[in-house]
Amino acid sequence: MNKQSVPAFSLARQVKNLRPQLLARLEKVLDTQQFIGGGFIEAFEKQLAAYLNVKYVISCNSGTDALWMALHALQTPSNVPQPAPSRMGQQDKIILTTPFSFIASSSEIASHGGLPVFIDIEPETFNINPVLLEQWLQQNAEMIDGNAVHRATKMPIVGLLPVDLFGQCADYDKLSVIVKKWNLWIVEDCAQALGAEYNGKKAGTLGTIGTFSFYPTKNLGAFGDAGCCVTNDPVLAERLLQLRNHGRKTGYDYISLGINSRMDAFQAAILAEKLPHLDGFNESRRAIADRYNQALSQLPFVKVPRTLVGTHVYHQYCILVEDAAGNSYRGQLEQHLANSGIQTRIFYPKSLPEISFLSPHAELTTACPISDRAVNNILALPMWPELEDGEVDYVIECVKSMNFVPVNKSAERVACL
Ligand SMILES: Cc1ncc(COP(=O)(O)O)c(C=O)c1O
Repeated sequence: MNKQSVPAFSLARQVKNLRPQLLARLEKVLDTQQFIGGGFIEAFEKQLAAYLNVKYVISCNSGTDALWMALHALQTPSNVPQPAPSRMGQQDKIILTTPFSFIASSSEIASHGGLPVFIDIEPETFNINPVLLEQWLQQNAEMIDGNAVHRATKMPIVGLLPVDLFGQCADYDKLSVIVKKWNLWIVEDCAQALGAEYNGKKAGTLGTIGTFSFYPTKNLGAFGDAGCCVTNDPVLAERLLQLRNHGRKTGYDYISLGINSRMDAFQAAILAEKLPHLDGFNESRRAIADRYNQALSQLPFVKVPRTLVGTHVYHQYCILVEDAAGNSYRGQLEQHLANSGIQTRIFYPKSLPEISFLSPHAELTTACPISDRAVNNILALPMWPELEDGEVDYVIECVKSMNFVPVNKSAERVACL
């Protein structure tokens, strides 16, 4: 087997394949000089709305801004009940979320004055576990005047922020029953899942507001920062438009604090060119994942990801490298693949509850052992649509040729004493 170099991700082939069309799109922006707002933005918003079958797409500067805007849009006096003064200082409402994600899904909750309370994930999908969510609510919440309230602190529990991690939707049928019962909204962080489907609906349309990132490595990536919120609710759409524009209602009439978060026309032009290719890109990702799954699923120490709901779009292809007891063999495989010229990545090396400024009230944070195990054992193999068959075969062969050295934790501990 000849040594090859396989990057974890690359845009080089995509840019080469689409170069003439992309340059033509960029030239059009130059010709009109409509760099901010205007036709290119509106056209892309409409195009994406049609693709998602959603009424409103509100573009913005990043997935992080989209989360900020979504959370603020949902905070109106009528839906943030204050049954009793909160004892938690600045953070005056609870938003339930996953411990296993990119930081933005929780940091935006905190920057919005919310307290993220973490519910552990499902081991097969890495998404928030609906059974544990309901269990936490049963044990910790009560309904007062139709709104969920945290029994011990009297903090309102206002919403749920699931993440469609690695390109697979969270289980919205089960989550929807729970949010209905407890009167919570859902902000769906689908930054990694554009094109994924659940019961015939596209990711982004499964909650109250969906938030996307078009960061260059995403399944639909801009050539800079970009993002958007999507919703079917006209009132929220109006609010989101105001929030992205300094809280401006009209002219110089401002009705709340807002931000300046604009997608620029060059990014909209790139995204408009790439969107018709998205389903093809996602199909290629699925084909690569199928080959990885078939070749690796029987290996000891390797657990391949599972699609439990809907259509996965494999933003990342992540395996767990562990034995039955959960001991990690990741370091060994990571090193072996690096020696073979294969780049891997770790998403994510830290569980969000470990970040102290996100969860200052440790007493409210639940244990998340499945997330902790993923943090220690997960490894992302190369995944991008233009990977060639020979490269995928090479990655597979290198994983298969790994001779794991058994890790005996108890022996290691004795040796350390
Ligand atoms: C799950 C998730 N949420 C939010 C974001 C933030 O998006 P952006 O980088 O566009 O701000 C990302 C980006 O990596 C993400 O993966």
